[in-house]
Amino acid sequence: IHESHFLNSLSSLSVDAETLQKQIDELSSFSDSPAPSVTRILYSEKDVLSRRYIKNLMEASGLSVREDAIGNIFGRWTGSEPELAPVSTGSHTDAIPYSGKYDGVVGVLGAIEAINVLKRSSFKPKRSLDVIMFTSEEPTRFGIGCLGSRLLAGSKELAQQLEKTVDGQNVSFFYAAKSAGYMNVEKLSTVFLEKGSYSAFVELHIEQGPILEEEATSIGIVTAIAAPASIKVDFEGTGGHAGAVLMPKRNDAGLAAAELALAVEKHVLESGSIDTVGTVGILELHPGAINSIPSKSHLEIDTRDIDEERRNSVIDKIYESALSISKRRGVKLSEYKIVNQDPPALSDELIIKAAESASQELELTYKKMISRAYHDALFMARVSPMGMIFIPCYKGYSHKPEEFATIDHIADGVKVLALTLAKLSLS
Ligand code: GLV
Ligand code: MN
Ligand code: MN
Ligand code: MN
Repeated sequence: IHESHFLNSLSSLSVDAETLQKQIDELSSFSDSPAPSVTRILYSEKDVLSRRYIKNLMEASGLSVREDAIGNIFGRWTGSEPELAPVSTGSHTDAIPYSGKYDGVVGVLGAIEAINVLKRSSFKPKRSLDVIMFTSEEPTRFGIGCLGSRLLAGSKELAQQLEKTVDGQNVSFFYAAKSAGYMNVEKLSTVFLEKGSYSAFVELHIEQGPILEEEATSIGIVTAIAAPASIKVDFEGTGGHAGAVLMPKRNDAGLAAAELALAVEKHVLESGSIDTVGTVGILELHPGAINSIPSKSHLEIDTRDIDEERRNSVIDKIYESALSISKRRGVKLSEYKIVNQDPPALSDELIIKAAESASQELELTYKKMISRAYHDALFMARVSPMGMIFIPCYKGYSHKPEEFATIDHIADGVKVLALTLAKLSLS
């Protein structure tokens, strides 16, 4: 079937919204926290269940399934010209503690449904189409965001790092992966994709911000993804008895952490741009007893910007503050580690155009926008032209249980994704 014929039969692009909603709900039941929250951590039992669920759906849709050494899952619909670089789509199904059921999931289940939509409309791909479920987009377990896509994109640095990475319980990355059934995990370099492996990568995702809903716009077409960075900091003091040690004698590691958290906010606010953000999402005190002065503190800092240099200058200032706080308070800065400091990524013009004309042909309102959240697309951009399709979500809520997107908005996103993939497959 030729493109013109396919484009003429647009009205036959029908999403099975009921089944898709059922799948989203079913997947959300694989969770280590009570509904409506979702907690699904890399290589946990629930993560393994979710992987099996996705592989089954891929197979039911007639895709041939492959898993790499760390569990990135690929479902392929072979095109009529399989020697051409395929087009890919996908997202993640891991979920941070006490989050919602749409982040990532919409881009995996929605991608499989986009394939079903195209199959039902008798579309025949020229370039093969790959649906990808990425391993651990969230940094929860090993502190590394976009672990799967980062490694796919060929990060040798990450491969080296993973050889000695452990989680908060001192379980090694390799051990955890093997427990989940990935016995070849040590062959990390087999995961790398060569540049040009795909002719395009498109990720469907909830916006995780309020703009589309506020403006009653159906589709967001992402032009760029902001640059994320994360930092781990440890302070050490001498601790002691909360009653007996007088204030002038103290070097409280907890107060050093508190001060640094406020310094992060200050440096971010002073950047001069609303696009600079910073968050201290982890702040731990040791020994964590009400009547003991904290002898150790641990912070994890997330900071992002669409302007990489401005973000980097915030990182420099955070470091200066950590040093001066430690000096002034007589605590030791025992660790200051930049875990990742990634550049932003730009979407590919041709993919933006394809998503725009798909939206127009489907008579859906759309706007171009940046992504402030990061996504696997940030790393796929290193090996493939990249694009993203956003759909509205309730009040922009995400990373919390109240996260919600209507099935109508999801279905619109799936249609735009399906048509965009179809165009890219034929190009
Ligand atoms: C992804 O979950 C992010 O933190 O942007
Ligand atoms: Mn997320
Ligand atoms: Mn996500
Ligand atoms: Mn640490």
